[in-house]
Amino acid sequence: MNESLTQKIRNDFDCIALYDQQGWNHNNHYHRFLLKQLPAECKTVLDIGCGTGEFSRLLAKGVERVVAIDLSSNMVEVAKQRSRQFANIDFQVADVLQWEFPDEKFDAVVSIATLHHLPVESLLPKLKAALKPGGKLVILDLLEHENLRDKLGDFVAVPLNWLFQALKNRHIQQSSSAAAAMREHLRTDKYLTWEQARRIYTSELRRTKVRKHLFWRYSVVWEKPAALAA
Ligand SMILES: C[S@@+](CC[C@H](N)C(=O)[O-])C[C@H]1O[C@@H](n2cnc3c(N)ncnc32)[C@H](O)[C@@H]1O
Repeated sequence: MNESLTQKIRNDFDCIALYDQQGWNHNNHYHRFLLKQLPAECKTVLDIGCGTGEFSRLLAKGVERVVAIDLSSNMVEVAKQRSRQFANIDFQVADVLQWEFPDEKFDAVVSIATLHHLPVESLLPKLKAALKPGGKLVILDLLEHENLRDKLGDFVAVPLNWLFQALKNRHIQQSSSAAAAMREHLRTDKYLTWEQARRIYTSELRRTKVRKHLFWRYSVVWEKPAALAA
C-alpha cells in the first residue's frame, strides 16, 4: 500500500483519537452480535485496528489473551489509559501490513471498521494462516451504497440513526475540531460495495457468511476448517 496513504490514515486517526467520547456508534451497535460469533472455546484473540480498545476490552472479559494492534499511537495511548484494569490485553502500535503474523496462534481474528483501509485480498491469506484450525475470522466493515436497493435501506437507517443519536449520545457535545478531524478523514475514506465484498470474501474463504447490516455495514464470519493447510 502506498506509504503516503498509510501516513494520512495514521495522522487522521492520531487526530480523531484526541476527541473520542465513547458514545453509541454504527460499529459498537454490533459488538454483541460480533461477540456471539466467536468460537465456543476461545482463549486468544487478535483485534486488528483496535482503535481506543472498546471491543478489545469486551473480548478481554471473556478470553485469556487479546493482542490488539493499531497504526495510530494516539489511539493505542487512549486504549491503554482506558484498559488499565485489563492485564490480559497486549496493545501494540503497528501497521498490520508490516506485522509478523504468528502461524496458527489465534482462536479468533477480529477487525471492526478497519479493513476498508487495507488491501483485503492480499491480507486475507495472512489472517487465515494466523488462525488455529477451528478458529474464526470475524469482520465488521463499512459498505458503499451504490444502487436503489441499497438506498432503500436508508429509509430505516437514517431515522433510526437520529433516534439512537438523540437517545444514547445526549452527553456528547462534538467540538468543531472533532468534526473537522472526522471530515478530513472521510474525504479520502473508500468502502467496498456489496458486490465487491461478496466476491472478495467468498472467493478467498470457503463457506463464509457475508451479511449486510443496517447502518451501512457488512459482516464476515468464517471458520477455519480443521484440516485446512494455511
Ligand atoms: C474506524 S477506526 C475503528 C477502531 C475500532 N476497531 C472501533 O471499532 O472503534 C479504524 C482503526 O483502524 C486503524 N488502522 C488503519 N489502518 C491500519 C493499519 N494498516 N494497521 C493497523 N491499524 C490500522 C486506525 O488507526 C483506526 O484506529
